[in-house]
Amino acid sequence: MVTRNELIKKYIEFFESKNHKFIPNESLIPKNDPTVLFTTAGMQPLVPFLIGQKHPMGKRLVGVQKCIRTGDIDEVGDSFHHTFFEMLGNWSLGDYFKKESIGYSFEFLTKILKISKEQLAVSVFAGDADAKKDNDSAQAWKELGVPEKRIAFLPKKNNWWGPAGLTGPCGPDTEIFYWKLKNKKAPEKFDPHDENWIEIWNNVLMEYTKNQDGKYIEASQKNIDTGMGVERTVAVLNNLEDNYLADMWKPIITKVEEISGKKYSENKKEMRIIADHVKAACFIISDGVIPGNSEHGYVLRRLIRRAVRYGKIIGLENFTPKISEPVFEIYRDYNLNKIRVIDELQKEEENFNRTLKKGLNIFRSLISNKKELSGKESFLLYQSYGFPIEMIEEECFNNKIKFDKNNFKKELKNHQELSKTAAAGKFKSGLIDNSVETTRLHTATHLLNEGLRVILKDSSISQKGSNITPERLRFDFNFPRKLTDAELKKIEEWVNDKIKENLQVVREEMPLEKALKSGAAAEFGAKYPSSVSVYTILDKKTPKGFASKEICTGPHVKKTGELGKFKIIKEESSSLGVRRIKATLE
Ligand code: ALA
Repeated sequence: MVTRNELIKKYIEFFESKNHKFIPNESLIPKNDPTVLFTTAGMQPLVPFLIGQKHPMGKRLVGVQKCIRTGDIDEVGDSFHHTFFEMLGNWSLGDYFKKESIGYSFEFLTKILKISKEQLAVSVFAGDADAKKDNDSAQAWKELGVPEKRIAFLPKKNNWWGPAGLTGPCGPDTEIFYWKLKNKKAPEKFDPHDENWIEIWNNVLMEYTKNQDGKYIEASQKNIDTGMGVERTVAVLNNLEDNYLADMWKPIITKVEEISGKKYSENKKEMRIIADHVKAACFIISDGVIPGNSEHGYVLRRLIRRAVRYGKIIGLENFTPKISEPVFEIYRDYNLNKIRVIDELQKEEENFNRTLKKGLNIFRSLISNKKELSGKESFLLYQSYGFPIEMIEEECFNNKIKFDKNNFKKELKNHQELSKTAAAGKFKSGLIDNSVETTRLHTATHLLNEGLRVILKDSSISQKGSNITPERLRFDFNFPRKLTDAELKKIEEWVNDKIKENLQVVREEMPLEKALKSGAAAEFGAKYPSSVSVYTILDKKTPKGFASKEICTGPHVKKTGELGKFKIIKEESSSLGVRRIKATLE
């Protein structure tokens, strides 16, 4: 059995022997980007360094990063989906590129993990209008002895990674596949649709930056970003058909079996969900989050409550703290905050039980003298009382009440659109109130945003945060260094010129795609609804026809002449790779 610890150790030692420096695991809560809830890849904490900032440990890095991906939370329950996982990675920050990266991967797999070349296949980028066919990577694989038939050229859908948000570093990737069957020889020709080929490593060849216009431009710094999922790799190396039988899962599953008195083989889906969600919850709590009704706290709440619900199906009550015990053992190296984790799990489980009880009473009153439960009523039970949809169906069935799941789904969709719009509004404007003062400062923020790109001659600058009070604006943006006094003065002048020209501000509604194509600025990593409002400050004198164009929910002034005199009062560092400007209007 190759264990989690062994794989991690071998990987790190191998890359250290190639002059890579080990970097510590970062928090699950990203420090650089308030618009992304969780760290989803090893590269995320490295974004400032991927776009040019100097990393204190040098240009070659290696590490293992804890990650949370909640995108397919509903898929958890099969043999390989997880919300929490660990990603091994090695990075070149403007140092080595494709040939060396591919060489290192091949050497690690064949020499250190002793995987036979016969069991490997790779995919490379086929090329399209944005970027050329990746013949260099294919050539590097061939030189290492990978036969042409084992190299598949695939489109962007398969062989492209990033950016993590809307803009930023990205590029084609080359993915490495492992033939998982021991008793059947791998076919000579690699068929990417054959599910016996399992992807174990992704080498992203970051040679592009996606800008606000949605265009891929050649990056000035070319990087390597690779990712190898620990859980999946350990499972395939041990010839396991089920990830949950590997050593970072097995003790948790055994604990569930023990306290429920039921067998894993007969309750796989429920036990996998419990193990996965409790494990993820342990890590999220340990990184300082507590269950709540928004953002991180909401995701955490959802994970714990889902685990509790599936626990009930197999007869478990007040059990989540017990399931956390093996998690602390498996991940001793993380030194998780045991006391806090147990306390929060216990409280949330109790809370949820109380809510469910209340919900059942509400359900009874909703159905009294009725034959049907409406979409709105079922959504209320789901949203406010945490009823899973299966439970609503079950209760309706037991009480002979008609219930159409589609009405519930419609209601859910309406709600999701609304909350997305609210989130985009929150991230975009950062407004404290809608007073005349904040509205004026808000329009000034848009001019500042564009002025930075113009004066610093850097189209990759984008908003990383905004906060506006009636007294001042505060604007965060990605930029690798301090601005000079001369630059600040020029930016101030640029904004004041646009104010003097008394330009018209117009608002339009349009599909998100169209907005991005038309050159509207968007906040890095922000999630927008499919239809957005765009504010444009018209300026016929410029070739583009506008002085600023941004996706934004407003409000704004009608003419820039209403703003008065713009003055920068402070420029400072906000976090790594992020600068902060404070400014006023006189
Ligand atoms: N960032 C790349 C991934 O997540 C390596 O697959």
